[in-house]
Amino acid sequence: MKTILIQLDTDTSPSTFDRVVAIDAGADHLFSYGGIAAENVVGLVHGAIFTRGVPDLKHTAIFVGGSQVSEGERVFDTVQKAFFGPMRVSVMMDSNGCNTTATAAVATARKHLSLAGISAVVLGATGPVGLRVAQLLAMEQARVTLVSRTEDRAAAACQVVRDEEPGAYLRPVAAATSESFAAICDQQQLIVAAGAAGISFLPAGGLSRLNGVRLAIDLNAVPPLGIADISAADKAMEKSGVICYGALGVGGLKMKVHRQAVQSLFEDQNRVLACRELYQLAIRIAGV
Ligand SMILES: NC(=O)c1ccc[n+]([C@@H]2O[C@H](COP(=O)([O-])OP(=O)(O)OC[C@H]3O[C@@H](n4cnc5c(N)ncnc54)[C@H](OP(=O)(O)O)[C@@H]3O)[C@@H](O)[C@H]2O)c1
Repeated sequence: MKTILIQLDTDTSPSTFDRVVAIDAGADHLFSYGGIAAENVVGLVHGAIFTRGVPDLKHTAIFVGGSQVSEGERVFDTVQKAFFGPMRVSVMMDSNGCNTTATAAVATARKHLSLAGISAVVLGATGPVGLRVAQLLAMEQARVTLVSRTEDRAAAACQVVRDEEPGAYLRPVAAATSESFAAICDQQQLIVAAGAAGISFLPAGGLSRLNGVRLAIDLNAVPPLGIADISAADKAMEKSGVICYGALGVGGLKMKVHRQAVQSLFEDQNRVLACRELYQLAIRIAGV
């Protein structure tokens, strides 16, 4: 039986990136829908679950994407609530690449560092990617500093992570200048820069002025980069004694996670793939 991936995208035009990955992952047919919201998705889910017999439902799966991550989360929840009993298909959520990017970043960190107990700082921790990076690091028992330009947002981000990881060591910090970002990063073993595209945290030469940093990952691929000393293509490149990764350096693993995750949707009808599940896949692929 042919596999069908149903792409539910909250943007008007479904993401070409997600469409290409779906085909490369081997979906025989891709049904792409744009302009999806939690309010208009249930009919499409019913169309997916009421057509094939239960034993064949593993050949149909749903992918939730789009640039608006919070709307994607609402759609993802609504899709799952529309399932009942055996009437369900596997589903994955990766709006704006948030889950695959964060899981690839933390699995990459795990390649180099034993994460339990380390001090880690996430710059831009309030965005969808940074928040997930912070959550995964907390899950790995790292001591995590979450940085935002405002104290309230940093504290709110910590609360979101704490709701998922109740025993986590989390420190909210507000900073808005390169001097304050540098002061926060000093003596932290791991830095993950997850700020908005084109936002710079540490200027050129900044890494060499920091003490105690072992690994730095910058997920921003749009110049100016988040950490000016890191190039987007850096992959385990040592600079000033720090192992560095840029967005493209992490991107290879991210792409593998995305592709293999889509493939795995067709292995049974019960997969629900979001941050935690994709992290398990990322560490398996990374062999760490
Ligand atoms: N490689 C990939 O495939 C891939 C995929 C997805 C995302 N990304 C990259 O990952 C990064 C994070 O993505 P995202 O969607 O989570 O980002 P985002 O939501 O656009 O931004 C993340 C955070 O950056 C902070 N920020 C915004 N403007 C700032 C400024 N002028 N100064 C300092 N901080 C600022 C904001 O925090 P506060 O307002 O709380 O300060 C915001 O919550 C982006 O660079 C994105 O391009 C890469």
